[in-house]
Amino acid sequence: MPDIRLEQVSKVYPGGVTAVDAVSLDIRDGELMVLLGPSGCGKSTTLRMIAGLEPITTGRLWIGERLMNEVDPKDRDLAFVFQSYALFPHMTVAGNLAFGMRIRGVPRAEAGRRLQEVAATLGLTELLERKPGQLSGGQRQRVALGRALLRDPVAFLLDEPLSNLDAKLRAGMRTELIKLHRRVGRTMIHVTHDQVEAMTMAERICIMRDGRIVQVGAPMEVYRNPADTFVAGFLASPPMNLLDARIEPEGAGALVIAHGLRVPLPGALPPGPVTLGLRPEEVTLAPDGAARIALDTVTQAVEALGPEVILVGALGDPRGPEVSWRMPRDFTAAIGQPVRLWLDPTTVRLFEAKSGVAIALSWPKP
Ligand SMILES: Nc1ncnc2c1ncn2[C@@H]1O[C@H](COP(=O)(O)OP(=O)(O)O)[C@@H](O)[C@H]1O
Ligand SMILES: [Mg+2]
Repeated sequence: MPDIRLEQVSKVYPGGVTAVDAVSLDIRDGELMVLLGPSGCGKSTTLRMIAGLEPITTGRLWIGERLMNEVDPKDRDLAFVFQSYALFPHMTVAGNLAFGMRIRGVPRAEAGRRLQEVAATLGLTELLERKPGQLSGGQRQRVALGRALLRDPVAFLLDEPLSNLDAKLRAGMRTELIKLHRRVGRTMIHVTHDQVEAMTMAERICIMRDGRIVQVGAPMEVYRNPADTFVAGFLASPPMNLLDARIEPEGAGALVIAHGLRVPLPGALPPGPVTLGLRPEEVTLAPDGAARIALDTVTQAVEALGPEVILVGALGDPRGPEVSWRMPRDFTAAIGQPVRLWLDPTTVRLFEAKSGVAIALSWPKP
């Protein structure tokens, strides 16, 4: 199957809103790519341009070697699943599933066999004679997916297909989609504003903001090395702590200083203001023998989540900036109590104070 390639694709809606701004993205054959970003950042518009449901204002869309800009949606061989999965209410599940194949004139026996196969894959076999009104949200969702699967398309385009489901069902369907992707091996472009969904499902995440791509990469790559403070603040919950800080020279190297916290940095960095990024999961309660830096947090709240505890507090002293840390599940502290934590300096991230763009740090290899 061919790759899907966007080349400087922009969308300006009538009225002048630039919804997508010069987006270039290469989606590989068979890949599960997640478009992630806050509401209004241009995810749906991007997907709809790939599907052909929305004309491209400027730029090029390729599927393999073929330029697709002017190709009719029905000739693109893509299956689209929307947030609100429109099923025919008067038809049974079987009727809904079979509809597309009937239109395309798939022979009856083959259509029946494939329908049974897909129904089994999605756990719909028992529901084939029901009408959509007799199904739960998750079941309707699976029927919509089944219909897409029966098209055997070049790629599946999924626009927030899980956002209408409750949390438990959503987690289950997430797993189902991952398994399904592995089984059918087809390209999937999945749109979501939910960072957990993106982290768990994606082979690569494409993070968008204000119509532009901010970063593309494997989930852990993006988590470890966010391209800027927007990505750092968007992924994971609680997200990276972002603190106003400054760099000062120290001997042959430099220090980053944030409200009394002093972290040594590798190499000589130019002095001045920066944003310091500390992941909540990168501190420990014991120094662990390694070259760790002590850091005090004055407890403001202790949130027990079951598997872990979130400590929310002020860095350094009661007037320090707010920080959140992930603690082991048996952690407790009283409000107002200072807690000493230990930070591995190689885990800190720096960003330019004004632009928020990441500053590369090169720690010597251990
Ligand atoms: N049909 C439309 N006409 C005008 N503006 C639109 C239209 N559809 C979306 N927009 C605008 O384009 C921007 C991107 O929207 P959208 O692609 O739906 O974002 P997302 O899916 O990330 O929430 C938003 O500012 C939105 O208001
Ligand atoms: Mg949308």
